[in-house]
Amino acid sequence: MPAIVVIGTQWGDEGKGKIVDHLAEKADVVVRYQGGNNAGHTVVVNGIQHKLHLLPSGILFPGCLCIIGNDVVIDPEVLLQEMNAMKERGIDVSGLRISNRAHLIMPYHRLFDALEETMKGAQKVGTTGRGIGPCYQDRAARTGIRLVSLLDKEAFSAELQANLEYKNRILSRVFGEKELDFESIFKQYCDFAEQLRPYVVDTAALLHQQMEAGKKILLEGAQATMLDLSHGTYPYVTSSNPSAGAACVGSGVGPRCLDKVIGVVKAYSTRVGAGPFPTELLDTTGDTIRETGHEYGTTTGRPRRCGWLDACVLRYARMINGIDCMALTRLDILDQLPTLKICTGYRHQGKILNEFPASLKVLGEVEPVFEEMPGWLTDISKVRTYQDLPENCRRYLDKITQTCGMRIGIVSVGPEREQTILLEKMFL
Ligand code: GDP
Ligand code: IMO
Ligand code: MG
Repeated sequence: MPAIVVIGTQWGDEGKGKIVDHLAEKADVVVRYQGGNNAGHTVVVNGIQHKLHLLPSGILFPGCLCIIGNDVVIDPEVLLQEMNAMKERGIDVSGLRISNRAHLIMPYHRLFDALEETMKGAQKVGTTGRGIGPCYQDRAARTGIRLVSLLDKEAFSAELQANLEYKNRILSRVFGEKELDFESIFKQYCDFAEQLRPYVVDTAALLHQQMEAGKKILLEGAQATMLDLSHGTYPYVTSSNPSAGAACVGSGVGPRCLDKVIGVVKAYSTRVGAGPFPTELLDTTGDTIRETGHEYGTTTGRPRRCGWLDACVLRYARMINGIDCMALTRLDILDQLPTLKICTGYRHQGKILNEFPASLKVLGEVEPVFEEMPGWLTDISKVRTYQDLPENCRRYLDKITQTCGMRIGIVSVGPEREQTILLEKMFL
């Protein structure tokens, strides 16, 4: 029962969707274990772009069982839209199963996401505005509504009523906003319930049956280590745990079930939203990377901040996630750059830091120590073996391996499935 976890090592958008899709060919089950429709995972197959927000990136393989786990927060309207869009493209979604323990994103969560961001002003996180944080807040406060309640009209009515009583007071008395109407939300969500009912099960039990039957399992993280609520650049993080440890809690399997952790690494760094970013490029090189790489958010369309690869971030991600090997993506985006830099350490007040700083003040003040390398100035998008990569490109990869202390298992040189160089067998 091999189980592999795929996680993001930086600030998201590393190409997790592409890597999960690549590995899903050999997997029987793909599980999304946290986050919600703040995620945007793009998978390209035969020139057609599929933008996935809630559906696991195994959905494009017919016969693959795709599970949305218990710690994913679900906006039912978005999920149904995504399922319908897939069906319209002729993609079968009958293999989808949704955890009855997953929490629902409600209209008031989206409202509070916007209101709280506005209230924070210059300190705003720059969220995706999808209601993710407020939904996880309710989950932690034990007032959230789970799918199991949505499917039981009586339970749902009582829980919605109790929530609205409280939320409406805050909406009107704190924010001076209009109160929300019970009937219209109730009716809309009951309609969603009937559409989702066939897919909702106890996914942990299902997953265990699959593992006992010897099936190959892929656990797909959304967001990334530096956006992790516990380990990321708090408070400029998301409200869940994208790191590998959460794959167990978010899907209902024990830690001893996991065989391998693959860390997806973009060949440079990007970040959407606010927060410190030591290797950020605020010059024309940053603009070149953004334009060459079309670095605009899949979910919100916002321009992504771009910077050099940061080995301090990657060493930290290795430690937090116990990464076995890296899947290095978007190497082709660097094709035209004459010189490349890798940040190998952080200097602060004249000293090289040994640990990744918890303090945002310190992280904002660090001076990255860069190693410069010549680029390869060659189109690598058609290269299919490691040996055929230009020498300078292999040097860049060797430097990453050395400075991050992780081997490279996959190199990606384009968005398409075949633009992938496999350096080691992933499933045992
Ligand atoms: P995710 O959120 O980690 O799944 O990443 P996104 O889908 O948000 O962003 C990654 C983007 O890069 C997507 O548009 C992918 O299709 C694309 N992509 C993935 N790997 C490669 C690659 O090696 N080269 C290029 N040029 N694009 C890639
Ligand atoms: P994928 O899975 C990049 C960022 C937002 C914001 C912060 C909090 O595609 O890699 P939230 O809406 O989660 O409360 O926003 O997290 N963020 C992402 N950045 N990729 C993502 O997902 C992200 N999901 C959230 O920009 O800074
Ligand atoms: Mg993304």
